[in-house]
Amino acid sequence: MRHFLSFDDFSKSEILEIIELSKKIKAEFKQGIQIPYLEKKILGMVFEKSSTRTRVSFESGIYQLGGYGMFLSNRDIQLGRGEPIKDTAKVISSMVDMIMLRTFGHERLEELAKYSSVPVINGLTDLCHPVQVLADYLTILEEGIDNPTIAYIGDGNNMANSYILFSAKMGIELRIATPKGYEPDTTILQKGRELGGNILLTNSPEEAILGADVVVTDTWISMGMEEEKGQRIKDFQNFQIDRNLFSKSAENSIFLHCLPAYRGYEVADEVIDGERSRIYQEAENRLHVQKGLMVWLDQHRN
Ligand code: CP
Ligand code: NVA
Repeated sequence: MRHFLSFDDFSKSEILEIIELSKKIKAEFKQGIQIPYLEKKILGMVFEKSSTRTRVSFESGIYQLGGYGMFLSNRDIQLGRGEPIKDTAKVISSMVDMIMLRTFGHERLEELAKYSSVPVINGLTDLCHPVQVLADYLTILEEGIDNPTIAYIGDGNNMANSYILFSAKMGIELRIATPKGYEPDTTILQKGRELGGNILLTNSPEEAILGADVVVTDTWISMGMEEEKGQRIKDFQNFQIDRNLFSKSAENSIFLHCLPAYRGYEVADEVIDGERSRIYQEAENRLHVQKGLMVWLDQHRN
């Protein structure tokens, strides 16, 4: 049985298998063909943080595959009142076929997976957000960009960390620009480099973006960091992707953002709402890659 916690646990060929399956299921879905790959399977969806896309895409996705999604907010379940993760994992996994967790510390996800008897999917932790990067990659491929140079500009957060592991595994060139003090997780960076990743880390957005095929950013204030908002807005001042900065990327580059976006902060309206932005295709692709992922995980159960 496999869990999907981080790209660290997946090989390039496995990632490509998931992408191929996602493309197939998306194509079928677009033709009005809904194959019940996961008939009567139940996905428990545990949320300790807010979500729009993750919730809707997993819930719609499992339903379209013939199964059922059970939304479990920590405001409603005993986990939110301090029930141990171990007990929660053992109990929930005895009743559902797969679990998705969105939480704060990545160790909470690892603990859930350790005690779960069914596959566990990372729906975002403070450390990484790999399902989002799968959706981003499908979008990049759909745009006909086969060998991208990716520039990630902004906070060295869960998205940046997932991009590091993903690009290292896939052999993709990645350039990350953050303000000083906001670099990605050092252990992840080291892992990415050990994997042979072609990763440039800089404090210059201009250096990172030059000629890039894909330009990515994310909020400067991730969930749980609200108290740092004032300081962060000052520290990230020169990191907004506006028309001028974006113009330094490749001629046919695309702009991606996992959303929710804060226009006027990490990105200017003219870029996120401009002709090279693919944010809605990217968001929709969450549905398709997660369907592919759930089917793949189900196929890899013994
Ligand atoms: N991109 C993403 O994960 O969005 P939500 O927080 O709305 O789920
Ligand atoms: N980095 C953001 C991503 C939201 C989908 C956060 O963790 O809040």
